[in-house]
Amino acid sequence: MKEEELRRALSLFMTGVTVTTTRGDGDIPVGLTVSSLTSVSLDPPLLLVCISEASRLLDCFRRCRYFGVSVLSEDQKEVSDKFSRSCLEERFEGISWESGETGVPLLQGSVAWFECERYRTLEAGDHEIVIGRVEAGGSRDGEGLGYYKSGYVSRPKPLP
Ligand SMILES: Cc1cc2nc3c(=O)[nH]c(=O)nc-3n(C[C@H](O)[C@H](O)[C@H](O)COP(=O)(O)O)c2cc1C
Repeated sequence: MKEEELRRALSLFMTGVTVTTTRGDGDIPVGLTVSSLTSVSLDPPLLLVCISEASRLLDCFRRCRYFGVSVLSEDQKEVSDKFSRSCLEERFEGISWESGETGVPLLQGSVAWFECERYRTLEAGDHEIVIGRVEAGGSRDGEGLGYYKSGYVSRPKPLP
């Protein structure tokens, strides 16, 4: 399968969108937009994200003790754009966030959030699989942001 065809086919698999975070040097909050979140296990509670080998943040995730996953709501498209496009130093500017129980940055306005202890990392081609054990988390009412065919999607609102 050619790379372009693989990309196109995988873009038909709808996902949600997260901002995955940790603390960098000097404890500064760092994060990037990630749609590769996958649930792995309920007992023990494990999830995974795949981080590109090209990411400037990969080393932070390789070394961190804890990382956070904020599942974006349907009105957080700009947040997703910001955490995928802007330079690292500007990503948290103008963003409301707080430290979770483990100290990981969690974005306000998210519909669900997880605080994970890094459990294992696996090299896998041009990405690294980062598995986390969920230590804390929560959710609220609201709709998550979807990603499909390389664009954002929201669940249609029921007719009044
Ligand atoms: C909707 C969406 C989903 C993304 N999912 C991932 C992902 O799962 N893993 C990843 O490494 N990059 C993903 N990216 C790309 C990164 O967000 C982007 O390449 C990164 O922020 C670039 O800067 P960095 O050097 O901080 O990694 C995604 C981008 C978007 C817009």
